[in-house]
Parts: sequence; C-alpha cells; structure tokens
Amino acid sequence: MSDKILISPSILSADFADLGAEVRAIDAAGADMIHIDVMDGHYVPNLTIGPMVVKALKPHTEKPFDVHLMIAPADPLIGAFIEAGADIVSIHPDAGPHLHRSLQSINAGGAKAGLVLNPGTPANVVEPVIDALDMILVMSVNPGFGGQSFISSQLKKIETLRQMIERSGRDIILEVDGGVNPITSQQCIDAGASALVAGSAVFKGAGSYAENIAALRGVPSKSRAAS
Ligand code: DX5
Ligand code: ZN
Repeated sequence: MSDKILISPSILSADFADLGAEVRAIDAAGADMIHIDVMDGHYVPNLTIGPMVVKALKPHTEKPFDVHLMIAPADPLIGAFIEAGADIVSIHPDAGPHLHRSLQSINAGGAKAGLVLNPGTPANVVEPVIDALDMILVMSVNPGFGGQSFISSQLKKIETLRQMIERSGRDIILEVDGGVNPITSQQCIDAGASALVAGSAVFKGAGSYAENIAALRGVPSKSRAAS
C-alpha cells in the first residue's frame, strides 16, 4: 500500500450557493477526490444532491467523483449517477434490494464500486462480495449529517477490514467518513485507512482549504518510527 493518504473533501459542508467554485477551490488545495453525499430523505433523514448537480459539477474538476449514495433502493439511480460523472459509486448493503446485483451494475456501468459500512454494520458483510469491490467506506458517524463526532469504536473495524483487504490481495481503497479531523485522521491512518473523507474539517477548519487538507494527511507510521 502506498503511504499517500487520499483526501476526499465532502462538499456537504461547502457553500451550496457556489458549489462549482468550492469544487475548484478544493481541487486547487490538493484534494485527491471529491466526496459527494447523496441523501434521499428516506434511507437517511436528510435530502441533498441528485444526478443533475453531479453533472453540473463535473466540468469544474478532473479529480475523481467519490459518490456516496445514501438512498434506498439504490439500483434505479445508479446508472444516472454514473452517467452524470460518478467515478466511484458507494452503496449501503442494507439500502437494497440486492447488494451483489447493485455492485455488478456499478461495475457494468464503468464506475468503481464501493461498499459502505454504518457504525452498526459488521466487517464481515464485505466477505461475500469482496471480489466486486474497489472501495470499502467505513462510516465513523451515523449517516445523514455533517459535523458529528467520530465514533472511536470504528477503529477496530478499520483494522479488521485492513487485514481482510491484505488477505484478498485486491487493490481496495479503505476510506473513513465522519468526524474526521487532524486528530481522528491519524487514528484512522494508524488503523489502516488509505483514504479519508472530511467535510467540516476542510470547509470549516481553522486554516485555508490547503492547510486543512494537509493537516489530515498525518504522518506515515514509517516516518514516525524513523524519527
Ligand atoms: C455523513 C456523510 C459525510 C459527512 C462528513 O452522512 O456521509 O460524508 O459529510 O462530514 P464531517 O466530516 O463534517 O463529519
Ligand atoms: Zn459521505
């Protein structure tokens, strides 16, 4: 695994009246991906972004769109999000109706497939479908809102998933989403995360977007051991 930690700022905390400029700003500030939280007011108690907004944002950056679907059922809209420009589409296993079919349809549509585990979802849900995955997204808050506190019990699950990924031999991104700040980001990296989502810490953090993104990358354990 590369030491480079991918940072995927969540535009949920951006200025919705000026999303194009916000996407250009985080691109220039060093974001590796753009995290787009799609909520349907049904799977989660909040309503956000649809395929039209994703399509409108696509020309504003060449960075991959990391689209997190918090919608149920997901299947009817997967194609529309890929068509709109989603590069990675992540779905929740309990959003239904058929997880394996949903992952297949993401792959068939030409996007990378991600599986999202809520804080109450065990690591072993990935086992039957790991061959279809390009990303595993660990929620360290319950989905629905930005600005919540990191749930530390998820660190153990990140460690377990890192071991499962290593055993699989597959190149799977292990991403963490929710309450990630410069302190919890280091804990996630130490547990084996390779990508971090952050909304509040990037858009509402103390520094510039570039400083806020840099602060999340942490110090690789090898460098710390050497110092
Ligand atoms: C929550 C979303 C997150 C959220 C993270 O359901 O999936 O991506 O935007 O926001 P922060 O980083 O503020 O916890
Ligand atoms: Zn998210």
